[in-house]
Parts: sequence; C-alpha cells; structure tokens
Amino acid sequence: MLTNEIRETLIQKALEARNWAYAPYSNYAVGAAVLTESGKIYDGVNVENAVYPLTMCAERVAIFKAVSQGEKTFQAIAVVTRNGGTPCGSCRQVMAEFGMDTIVLIADTSGKLITEYTVADLLPNSFSQDDLAAS
Ligand code: THU
Repeated sequence: MLTNEIRETLIQKALEARNWAYAPYSNYAVGAAVLTESGKIYDGVNVENAVYPLTMCAERVAIFKAVSQGEKTFQAIAVVTRNGGTPCGSCRQVMAEFGMDTIVLIADTSGKLITEYTVADLLPNSFSQDDLAAS
C-alpha cells in the first residue's frame, strides 16, 4: 500500500538525486528513486557521454543499483524532470522485467506529483521472459 507520505518521500529523494545528474549535452536533468519491496530506496540520475548513445537514463541507474544489491521487486519508482517527462521505452522495458504492478510516479521539479501509472499502463503487451519459453 503506497501512502501519500511514501509518495512524497520518494519524489523528494528523486528530486535531491537530480542535482547529481550529468547532462552537459541535453541539459535535461532527470532524477529517479525506486522503493524496493523490503522498504529500501535507491536513487539514480541520467549520466550522459560525449559518445551520445552511451548515455544511461536515471530510472535504469536506480533500478540497476537496487538489483546489484540483491533487490528485484519494486513497490514504486519516482521520476523527476523539469516538465514531468515520462520514462523512455528502454526504461519501461527494464521496469517490466521486475514487475508490471510497480507504480510509476511522475513529478516535476516543484515536487508536484503530475501523474501516476503502473508499469502495465506504460508498456502494454510487452515482451517478457514468458515469450522465451520453449514452445
Ligand atoms: N532520460 C532519462 O534519464 N530518462 C528517461 O526516461 C528519458 C530520458 C535522459 C537521457 C538523456 O540524458 C536526457 O534525458 C535527454 O534524453
């Protein structure tokens, strides 16, 4: 059960993390914070590179940090941008890997929650490990 207090905490963590975004090329800073099933929070920022395609999104940094600490189930992830941008397709696919019911909170830099989705809302009919099962 995601309370409003938890929503606010998660958005605040993403907002604080956003200060560490490395986005000298796009100047589009993104902060993310993921809440694990066990109650831990991992944050992330976008990290750009002079070789543009090497850029990594904030959501995936947060999720990969969590997974690399043994966490694989997520209650929610907050994403903060200056204009309430939603996660890119690659991030949606990575979120889907760890559960379609994870709540995705979209907020802006004032800390305002703009929209709330589930991963299933953001990536319907997704490819998953079930598709890899032998037929
Ligand atoms: N970006 C993210 O961090 N997350 C997204 O879901 C969308 C895009 C970053 C990548 C790049 O550094 C900048 O935003 C502009 O695309």
